[in-house]
Amino acid sequence: METPIESVSRVIRQRKTLKVFADEPVAEGLDPHVVEALIATAGWAPFHFPAANVHLRGNTLNALEPWRFYLFDAAACGNLRKILLHEGDQTKIPRMLAAASAMILVTWLPHPSKTGNNQLFEPTQINMEHIAATSAAIQNLLLAATAREIKTYWSSGGRLGKPEQMKTLGIPSGEILLGSVFLWTENFTDLPTTTGKMRQKRSPISQWSKWVEVPKPA
Ligand SMILES: Cc1cc2nc3c(=O)[nH]c(=O)nc-3n(C[C@H](O)[C@H](O)[C@H](O)COP(=O)(O)O)c2cc1C
Repeated sequence: METPIESVSRVIRQRKTLKVFADEPVAEGLDPHVVEALIATAGWAPFHFPAANVHLRGNTLNALEPWRFYLFDAAACGNLRKILLHEGDQTKIPRMLAAASAMILVTWLPHPSKTGNNQLFEPTQINMEHIAATSAAIQNLLLAATAREIKTYWSSGGRLGKPEQMKTLGIPSGEILLGSVFLWTENFTDLPTTTGKMRQKRSPISQWSKWVEVPKPA
């Protein structure tokens, strides 16, 4: 019988990037209740600061969490794929949308810039921690999916994160895409797949962690 410690460790190690490509829509949808259960688990991520008021006023999604999750079922993935193809998208995204059982766009909510410069967002402590919290929520989502044997891919999202694209999807301006998470439930033995290019490049923990010795104060 697996202990909770073993279960957590297994699921974390089992989480693995998988990209699946199809030329035509092939995926059966994922039960919306399952998607919502995954999101509910994701939302238990830690977060340090509330989102700025500018993101709460006048928006249907007005929670103080610094992240937003936009859920696409297989039908929505299919329609989005058609829109992208119509726009001439030659990236791998339309082919992944054809294979996805669901896709989730995860944005984070930057604090408004005080300097008014052209940066995507201001490099402040709060913004750093908003990104960190949203990343933790995405990782929760990946782990919750993995525990249900749903395969996942956290993509930067490419053109899905462009302001004009987000606008057409009803995502408020000012939000920044942190991840486009693809969920795959089918057994795609006949479809091309790839894994993450960094998967096998992990280093031993001694190369990225060390015990810190603090001399005893005199
Ligand atoms: C913030 C973030 C963005 C990512 N974006 C992409 C992406 O756009 N394209 C891609 O091929 N992989 C992307 N990945 C997945 C990584 O390539 C993958 O995690 C890495 O190769 C390690 O493989 P593993 O997830 O199987 O451990 C992204 C991962 C993270 C954390």
